[in-house]
Amino acid sequence: MERKSDISGFHELSPKRRREIVKAFAGLTNEEAKALEKTGVLDEKTADMMIENVVGTTELPLGIATNFLINGKDYLIPMVIEEPSVVAAASYAAKLARASGGFTATSTDPIMIGQVQLVNVKNPEKAARDILAKKEDIIAYANTVDPCVLVKFGGGLRDIETRVLATPAGKMVIVHMLVDCRDAMGANAINTLGEVLAPMFEDISGGKARLRIISNLADRRTAKAKAVWKKEVLEQSFSGKGDFKGEDIVNWIIEAWAFAFSDPYRAATHNKGIMNGVDAVVMATGNDWRAVEAGAHAYASMRGRYGPLTRYSKDKDGNLVGEIEIPTAIGLVGGATKTHPVAKVAVRILGVKNANELSEVIASVGLAQNFAALRALATEGIQRGHMRLHARNIAVMAGAQGKDIDVVAAKMVEEKKIRVDRAKEILEKLKDQ
Ligand code: MEV
Repeated sequence: MERKSDISGFHELSPKRRREIVKAFAGLTNEEAKALEKTGVLDEKTADMMIENVVGTTELPLGIATNFLINGKDYLIPMVIEEPSVVAAASYAAKLARASGGFTATSTDPIMIGQVQLVNVKNPEKAARDILAKKEDIIAYANTVDPCVLVKFGGGLRDIETRVLATPAGKMVIVHMLVDCRDAMGANAINTLGEVLAPMFEDISGGKARLRIISNLADRRTAKAKAVWKKEVLEQSFSGKGDFKGEDIVNWIIEAWAFAFSDPYRAATHNKGIMNGVDAVVMATGNDWRAVEAGAHAYASMRGRYGPLTRYSKDKDGNLVGEIEIPTAIGLVGGATKTHPVAKVAVRILGVKNANELSEVIASVGLAQNFAALRALATEGIQRGHMRLHARNIAVMAGAQGKDIDVVAAKMVEEKKIRVDRAKEILEKLKDQ
């Protein structure tokens, strides 16, 4: 099957039919496809090895966002999330972006920072300089010992930086180890390296090493994505639903972004929308979403005030240009990505070759999600879309099946009465017809 992600009517299909399409798109084996189908696929033995005190497992829906074209390649995007509308919104934003070539994305080398805290240093400024003077030796030693087997895969310790911090507990020297983690997220590798190198830092500084830990502010490992939404496409997207002009929609979305730029209260919600998309892919691929969340919000504060992770502007033709830059502490080797049966299949569906490519996908989904939210918020509001999905859920609760679900839901939305009792009445009438 051709790898085309703009699959029309995907949302109308049964989960079984969708699975068949995804299987053909990604070339999944029967066993991989089965992992998507079965519930309870994370067996107790595996779960018990993943964390402590296991008593069971829990499940969340895994959806597939369609229409994503990133750097000229089609992707179906696995998303794990409990919130309705997110997968639909991402797919729709990607559909509207396809008209201008989809997303272009780039990423930095996968450099993560490890921190070693040195206390009781007599002359912190001198110690910071002394450590820097020896950095070539430290780097050579670290990459020869290679305690975390990064060098073998093309990574390793790349640089050392030092800072002197004036803290409430006195001055301390902070050493930053800049580590190229390649396809690993890097937390284990960096924490190990910190413990291996700490005695060297102690010797040079004459101080005591305390914390030796990764920094989740992964500002050296970021991904950028950009997309253009044509004003005509934006206008058409409302045809029959509202009377919005393309250029107005562009302006209103830029105003919505400007609001977030100038107000942390709004920026928090703006970024929450971005993270709806980011986290859903991070979770689907078995990555550490707390690490990505922590990094994103810290990065959003780097201007000295909390702000949005995206920005919007107009190109010379008046089209909307959306851009995002986010830290992406994610990997493809190790952790749940390699042990969780569904995470492994999610990576296969994405068809990403390395962690950089995954980070570019994640940035694109974050941008798509944010665009979709702003497009709705700046025009008709988000409740209309939410209500449609809510109404479908209520229809199912009332016993509707198959095509009846949409009929019952549409009637309730039209009447603005979304209740199980009303759904039951509508369903009864349908049966009588
Ligand atoms: C809801 O999960 C996310 C939004 O609040 C994001 C936003 O306001 O931009 C809709």
